[in-house]
Amino acid sequence: MLLQSALLALSASLAAAVPVLEAKGNVFVNPKTGNRFQIVGVAYQPGGASGYDPTVPDVLSVKENCIRDAALLQVLGVNAIRIYNLNPNQNHDECASIFNAAGMYMLIDVNSPLVAESLTSFEPWTSYYAAYLNRTFAIVEAFKNYPNTLAFFSGNEVMNNEETAATVPPYSRAVTRDIKEYISKHSSRPIPVGYSAADVRDILFDSFQYFQCAEDGDKNDMSHADLFALNSYSWCGTSSFKESSYNDLVSGFTGSSVPIFYSEYGCNTPSPRIFQEVATIYGPQMTDVFSGGIVYEYTQEDNKYGLVKLDKDGSVTLLQDFVAFKDQLAKVDFKTLQSQKPSGPAPPAPKCDAKLIKTKGFNGNFTLPVLPPGAKEIIDGGVSPAPSGKTVSVSSLKVTQKIKNPDGTFLVDLAITQVGDDEFNLPGTNPTKITGGSTKTPTGTTDGPATTSSNAAVKPINVGLPAAALGAFALVAGMI
Ligand SMILES: *[C@@H]1O[C@H](CO)[C@@H](O)[C@H](O)[C@H]1NC(C)=O
Ligand SMILES: *[C@@H]1O[C@H](CO)[C@@H](O)[C@H](O)[C@H]1NC(C)=O
Repeated sequence: MLLQSALLALSASLAAAVPVLEAKGNVFVNPKTGNRFQIVGVAYQPGGASGYDPTVPDVLSVKENCIRDAALLQVLGVNAIRIYNLNPNQNHDECASIFNAAGMYMLIDVNSPLVAESLTSFEPWTSYYAAYLNRTFAIVEAFKNYPNTLAFFSGNEVMNNEETAATVPPYSRAVTRDIKEYISKHSSRPIPVGYSAADVRDILFDSFQYFQCAEDGDKNDMSHADLFALNSYSWCGTSSFKESSYNDLVSGFTGSSVPIFYSEYGCNTPSPRIFQEVATIYGPQMTDVFSGGIVYEYTQEDNKYGLVKLDKDGSVTLLQDFVAFKDQLAKVDFKTLQSQKPSGPAPPAPKCDAKLIKTKGFNGNFTLPVLPPGAKEIIDGGVSPAPSGKTVSVSSLKVTQKIKNPDGTFLVDLAITQVGDDEFNLPGTNPTKITGGSTKTPTGTTDGPATTSSNAAVKPINVGLPAAALGAFALVAGMI
């Protein structure tokens, strides 16, 4: 009887789960329907890039906060969140299940800004050791069992200029290899692993080729990435496919063997943002090559990229940017877009070859560093003790904190709308009305700093960059 009720509880919690997705060739697909999936995401980093502290609950371990944020992100219309800094030893079952119930996937960075928890941009070999890998594998252990874990980022902007590109690539590809080895041995399903690049055009396409290629064109080459993503801030305010240089990104990634998407986007000048790029990202000029993107970022932090303002008492004020992004998403026909089939088989991964690398000084050494001492034992035997995660049934979907509309009124009775079995969130799934915030988009040109393609690759270098990497970058910059 006990077993039976346990099984019943299990099936109840699994019944309403988003479909598990796969990276297949150059697209994400739902294997049950064969439909392509477009990421409509938001970076989820309450507390900011430097706010990570392993001694306090991380952003996916406080149930009430996850209910609040999943509800608001659901109203916004997104289907995925990116989470940067997580502690593998905390319990994420409730939050993962809450986001699942709201129809949202999780893209997870395995690193954190702390020492021994990320590969450094400066002298990367000094940070590549077993205890570091153990921590990245522990993140995999903690998240591999959730059906809504969509992907792992093996690194974020570890290369951000020519200096770092001279040393980092083989180490970053080695970390990708190690995580993939670990997943193949210890996960019941393949979970895509890839790199999140800074949109520094001098090294962007070399990085892409370096990660996507496979030895002898062999797809079983464990070190080649399953996806490639970039943090791009080249569309600011009122712009266009060409003026923003998105056209160069599309041509540069055409023919990719892996899915491509923006792991961050959303230039914040001029402010408030109008998110005019949304129509282009999910429009016919881009969707053949790109699989959507992730807006930077949910909460307002010092660098001013927020969609909402989070107060210390847990109450939230929706900002103008929230309304603007919501309105842009509402204009896209996602029902049609998310039910398209892949246009055909993807090209195979190119064979790794020095000819793929165009930039002089870019480290295109395809002989990767061997595993550091002690790492093979962890890959073979598993992390010990291993954190484990499982979906749980979510008892309440009602938001308990105060939510303020842009017009100063309060949102009452906000709750997550549980999505159906094998469904993910779409704009309109949660019909809660937001009041206030102008929905008009300005006409004419903007006075933003980066509306021409000449400075298109300009981005705030500290955005989303782990503090450790930032310190290393500053060190490098200081030395030249
Ligand atoms: C590996 O990670 C687990 C889980 O975080 C931890 O308990 C263990 O102490 C780590 N082992 C090593 C050798 O770092
Ligand atoms: C390439 O990397 C391997 C492994 O780190 C190293 O042994 C080799 O010397 C490197 N080759 C070149 C040409 O730098």
